[in-house]
Amino acid sequence: MKFPCPTLSYCYFSLGLIVGFFFTLYMSSNVSVVSKWHKLPRPWKWINVNFIQVKSNNNIHEDLSRKVRVLCWIMTSPDNLQKKAIHLKHSWTRHCNITLFMSSTANESFPAIGLGTKEGRGELYWKTIRAFQYIHQNYLDQADWFLKADDDTYVVMENLQYLLSNYSPEQPVYLGKRFKPFVNQGYMSGGAGYVLSKESLKRFVEAFRTSVCTHTSSVEDLALGQCMEKLGIIPGDSRDLEKRETFHPFTPETHIISRYTKSSIYWNYCYYPLIQGPQCCSDLAISFHYVPPELMYTLEYFVYHLRAYGYQYRYQPPLQDSAANVSAYVN
Ligand SMILES: *[C@@H]1O[C@H](CO)[C@@H](O)[C@H](O)[C@H]1NC(C)=O
Ligand SMILES: *[C@@H]1O[C@H](CO)[C@@H](O)[C@H](O)[C@H]1NC(C)=O
Ligand SMILES: *[C@@H]1O[C@H](CO)[C@@H](O)[C@H](O)[C@H]1NC(C)=O
Repeated sequence: MKFPCPTLSYCYFSLGLIVGFFFTLYMSSNVSVVSKWHKLPRPWKWINVNFIQVKSNNNIHEDLSRKVRVLCWIMTSPDNLQKKAIHLKHSWTRHCNITLFMSSTANESFPAIGLGTKEGRGELYWKTIRAFQYIHQNYLDQADWFLKADDDTYVVMENLQYLLSNYSPEQPVYLGKRFKPFVNQGYMSGGAGYVLSKESLKRFVEAFRTSVCTHTSSVEDLALGQCMEKLGIIPGDSRDLEKRETFHPFTPETHIISRYTKSSIYWNYCYYPLIQGPQCCSDLAISFHYVPPELMYTLEYFVYHLRAYGYQYRYQPPLQDSAANVSAYVN
């Protein structure tokens, strides 16, 4: 072997240097984004919080979960029950009003519901159609909103309920991370999760009964978006009042550290201008995707436990503010 590989171990060493060099270059290109954090106003103010004050915040959520009942259904498969779904069962889905794990075949001990479909990417839209039909038949009166998430999606349920408290389940509306192409009004990313109002669920199921909508494509989220548009179901704007997104199709890290350039597919898929770095994500963020089991529990800890001692959140959004007015949110 010749330079830079006179011996095998030297070769690995050179390779390591080269990889290290490019990795450093890559990381340093992100530093400018990361360093913007210190320029943001702190959302926290110093007060002498005592634990009684902190506890009193709980009432807000008890109120919200009575008013905004969310049924969560998780798209999963027999192989993923123990690998992925179990970690949702032990983390965020505990905060849903009802949770259903939807699979091709039933597993009564998990429990998972069998939709009678085949497995695989090509079956995703069939699973979605069957899942909504099953829910319509068995759970319509037990919830107001119907959230679809993957078995690697993480959801902060209370923030979803807060967003939904601005709408009525009788409105034909659905919300999620809005993509731009292929459908005039855009469509919601499947991985970031999307939520249908009761009225939207009724229309969707009825449309398949009357063949107004059919299984047009196995690309689940896009096909559903086309059907929604046909049925006059409005894509809600799920961004917060500062125009920061709440539903996210990647891990928190991917959004917080700039990863995408103007030429990337993702950039061009986003319906609203893509913001990366500190303003990527709402303080009341709802979902992240591609979350491995370890990160499920880490997020659970960050969202529900970790706090800086002595600080209380400065902005406590009212349950019904003027933005409760749907016209302010929908388009
Ligand atoms: C679901 O909602 C019903 C009706 O509001 C409530 O009685 C029940 O406690 C809720 N369950 C959970 C797990 O939140
Ligand atoms: C059903 O789920 C349980 C765990 O809840 C698991 O032990 C079992 O292997 C599953 N059965 C099948 C047929 O996948
Ligand atoms: C929503 O806002 C519009 C215009 O700002 C107003 O006319 C309407 O009454 C409001 N609706 C509700 C329910 O507050």
